[in-house]
Amino acid sequence: MRGLEGKNIVLGVCGGIAAYKVADLASKLTQGGATVYVLMTRAAQEFITPLTFRSLTGQPVTTDMFDAQSPLAVQHVALAGVADAVVVAPATANTLARLATGMADEPVSLTVLATTAPVLLAPAMDGGMWEDPTTKGNLARLRERGFTVVGPAHGRLASGKEGWGRMEEPVAILDTLRYVLGRDGDLASKKIVVTAGGTQEPLDPVRHLTNPSSGKMGFAVAEAARDRGAQAVLVYAPTHLTPPVGVKAVPVRTAQEMQEAVDLSLSGAHALVMAAAVADFRPVKPETQKVKKEYTQGILLELERTPDILKAAQGDFIRVGFAAESQELLKNATDKLRAKSLHLIAANDITATDSGFATDANRCTLLDREGVVEELPLLPKLEVAHRILDRVVGYLTRPGI
Ligand code: PMT
Repeated sequence: MRGLEGKNIVLGVCGGIAAYKVADLASKLTQGGATVYVLMTRAAQEFITPLTFRSLTGQPVTTDMFDAQSPLAVQHVALAGVADAVVVAPATANTLARLATGMADEPVSLTVLATTAPVLLAPAMDGGMWEDPTTKGNLARLRERGFTVVGPAHGRLASGKEGWGRMEEPVAILDTLRYVLGRDGDLASKKIVVTAGGTQEPLDPVRHLTNPSSGKMGFAVAEAARDRGAQAVLVYAPTHLTPPVGVKAVPVRTAQEMQEAVDLSLSGAHALVMAAAVADFRPVKPETQKVKKEYTQGILLELERTPDILKAAQGDFIRVGFAAESQELLKNATDKLRAKSLHLIAANDITATDSGFATDANRCTLLDREGVVEELPLLPKLEVAHRILDRVVGYLTRPGI
């Protein structure tokens, strides 16, 4: 996975019931291409064994600074030095207190104190401990030191009560870590505006015209931009997806709302990537009350064109469109590239069942204003997003564009 490949992640596991979920996190990090070095407090070993982490990561697990097998026995800050990031999960109230006061008498706090790498904390504890002003104060101090905090979530706690204190799910921790790791990427300090999803054009308060766009392609572009350090703004039509961590999410419903949100977001932007399937037509006069089927045999809808957001969005930024075509893919995409004055267009054949709307993969052909045609194979949408952003980076680093 881009962003994790080749990274050294130090994972500090502390003594809480959520420690079992950290096994999944260690596995996902390893599968994503990171080398994962696990450190465990003594309390953590009451909940889960070092062998679990050793099996999942393929790396030795450090449980004791004075263990002759541990890298810390050779050089006590060894892992602090190699870490691209340190993740502490679950970060218990006890560990937060130790980190806040700079203690260094066990492997996790020692390494956090010694590292200059970004530190990500995933707190988990009983609701009462979480609400305690001491914990809040410790966390505030750690935030001041630049540590990133993910969670905790609300839900059922080990005590059986409901409240705040559940460790965030491994996917959310992973998502936040990718955001943290990407801060110095090739889109750092660049603002990228992305649109996603199918707009809804109301007929009456309960009915609308829309299309099958799930938002997956646009969300992937926003996520990839974030992973490369961009300030990503995601303007999205209704979808069941949750906006990625670290992305400014702007929900809209109609094409008109999307245009207004895009226009507002474009101030200071370096690129606009329009992956949204914007409705081309909308009812001229949506009914203010629900149309009662009992009173009518049929309806003749009068439709008008929606604003063409991409065509209208001209300025000093890179413009990327998508073309969803059911015939004459390259010709129609080229026409759109020219008509909308784009730098790049991603043409997708929506007749294919394995790509296009609502799938996890997409098969696109990239056409640029210089006439270069790049046919991409079927790829996960996140990888398609990166290929598009590779081209955006190319334009941004080219003089005179
Ligand atoms: O969301 P998913 O389920 O992942 O599906 C992804 C996708 C198939 C929706 C996506 O890959 C895609 O092709 N999006 C563009 C769909 C589309 O509306 O294409 P179009 O050929 O009608 O429009 C061309 C371009 O103009 C698009 O970038 C579109 O966002 C933009 N447009 C269109 C109409 C309009 N009124 N304003 C616009 O800005």
